[in-house]
Amino acid sequence: MPKIILLLSVFLSFALTAYTNVSQGSDKTSHQETKIEAKKALGKNGIIATAHPLASKAGLSMLENGGNAVDAAIAASFVISVVRPQSSGIGGGGFAMIYLNELKKIDAWDFRERAPIKATRDMFLASDGKPKKFIYHSNSIPNASMNGHLAVGTPGLVAGLLKIHKKYGKLSLKTILNPAIEIAEKGFPVYPQLAAAIMERRDILAHFAGSRKLLAPNGQWLKEGDTLIQKDLGWSLRQIQKQGLDAFYKGIIAQKIVAEMTRGMGLVSLEDLKEYEVKERKAIEGTYRNFKIYAMPPPSSGGVHIIQMLNMLEGDHIKSLKPGSTTFIHLLAEVMKRAFADRAEYLGDPDFVKIPAFSNNQGLVSKIYAVDLRKTIDLKKASSSKDVKPGVPPDWVQKEPPSTTHISVADKWGNVVSTTQTVNFTFGSCVVAEETGIVLNDEMDDFSISSGTPNAFGLLGNKANEIAGKKTMLSSMSPTLVFSPDGQFSFALGSPGGPRIINAVLQVIINVIDFSMPLNDAVTAPRIHHQWFPDEIRLETITPSESVLNELKDMGHQLTKKETGVGDVQAIMRSADGEWIGVSDHRSDGVPFGY
Ligand code: DON
Repeated sequence: MPKIILLLSVFLSFALTAYTNVSQGSDKTSHQETKIEAKKALGKNGIIATAHPLASKAGLSMLENGGNAVDAAIAASFVISVVRPQSSGIGGGGFAMIYLNELKKIDAWDFRERAPIKATRDMFLASDGKPKKFIYHSNSIPNASMNGHLAVGTPGLVAGLLKIHKKYGKLSLKTILNPAIEIAEKGFPVYPQLAAAIMERRDILAHFAGSRKLLAPNGQWLKEGDTLIQKDLGWSLRQIQKQGLDAFYKGIIAQKIVAEMTRGMGLVSLEDLKEYEVKERKAIEGTYRNFKIYAMPPPSSGGVHIIQMLNMLEGDHIKSLKPGSTTFIHLLAEVMKRAFADRAEYLGDPDFVKIPAFSNNQGLVSKIYAVDLRKTIDLKKASSSKDVKPGVPPDWVQKEPPSTTHISVADKWGNVVSTTQTVNFTFGSCVVAEETGIVLNDEMDDFSISSGTPNAFGLLGNKANEIAGKKTMLSSMSPTLVFSPDGQFSFALGSPGGPRIINAVLQVIINVIDFSMPLNDAVTAPRIHHQWFPDEIRLETITPSESVLNELKDMGHQLTKKETGVGDVQAIMRSADGEWIGVSDHRSDGVPFGY
């Protein structure tokens, strides 16, 4: 048994319980099974939930040693960069929502990748208008926006983490980086999900020397139980520890990243790195049944559409519907279709395009607009995605038209950090910059490479999200904070999963607020996903009952079932008596720790 699993079983009491159908009526799930529930931890002082036990442990040690939630989030982020290179890392980027309890203030930070200065609108289109291939050493690799050097956006993670450390941190950068450096240099056992990620991407990874050195150090791809040692990444982290930001953005690491770019005619230049800027954004605010939601604004689409969908649902008596029932799933799918149609039309980098969603209760997040959209939903019949068009939000004149990771953490002062970080697709571009151990992202694929061409997640986009130099690609990452009607912090959450992030966060919020589920049940409950196109409701392996599935089909819905879950939520909550609850989704390897 890999050590990590042993570790898990020591720290956690995995409740292997017979799955209880969340629909409490007479309906039965189509197949009842034994399953592991979301993992739960309690803490009097602080709490952390991340996607890997070593990251949760590093964050916890910061909290126990006088650090605050920001110190813990940063330490955990650097450890995730080491232990989940398939998901996130210092060659990627992210967002963070920070709640400062004493000041009752919420800050939103954008340290997402940016398009390189030399990027152009049609850079991923071949002369026939189809997605371009990436040619490397005369090999033709499919999808240049996803694989290889051209897919790489200017990384922002290091700049973001160091910026928030400088602004809010209590512990030294040295202390915060130590756990990640130690794990990189000593190594850790390859766990099943990492081994599967290597298998999934090995054909692309095999093209690049840095990637082979990292993941096939002895000429064989690492497999479960092998030890992944990352001396080069340890070296990179040590440079950051010694020289701070400049090491990555101006100094020795910058030079090595650019040397890697030159090998594959990638666009990220020294100038791109030198000019990289972290952006402070204004959190997008909404209300849902008097709870207050603070969510990540554009260039994430998550916050806007979570609030838009909650607004659409607010007039419905969700409480009286059963989770997993036909009407509830139908309603969710219809609401999702409308939100994702608007996403494709309007959402992009707010520094480049005007988005009708900026001020609260206006534009896309206006309650009036939501009521209008809700009126277009027939409770008896599915609308075809072909007929669902982007709406026209008020105060707005229409113009031309299982990677990623989330960390939720709270400290004994009541501060909270909710941060989602990514290299985009599994192992990003699959390019590891030689001599650095850094997995470079493929975030350029989050742009719309042309109207009507879906990206790796099947998402459509339009002019608002077309490529331009220095522009930020649209994201679905949705670090979110929820406050109860009396103004007290209630819960924080986020997830990986591309577009599924938005819908995963939405459903956990509804489960807590409407269905009064305890946090671990709210995270465990089966979820659905609809993203407008493809026109289908995506179900998880635990599906609603046969009768519900048949009723949904009769209403005109297409149904698909996927092995991959809808998200992997890491959530924390403060209970009425002040105790912290941490929950890591059973859909992946995360664990919460409290103290
Ligand atoms: O920013 C985004 O929306 C995507 N790059 C996130 C990718 C992701 O969540 C991959 N996870 N499965």
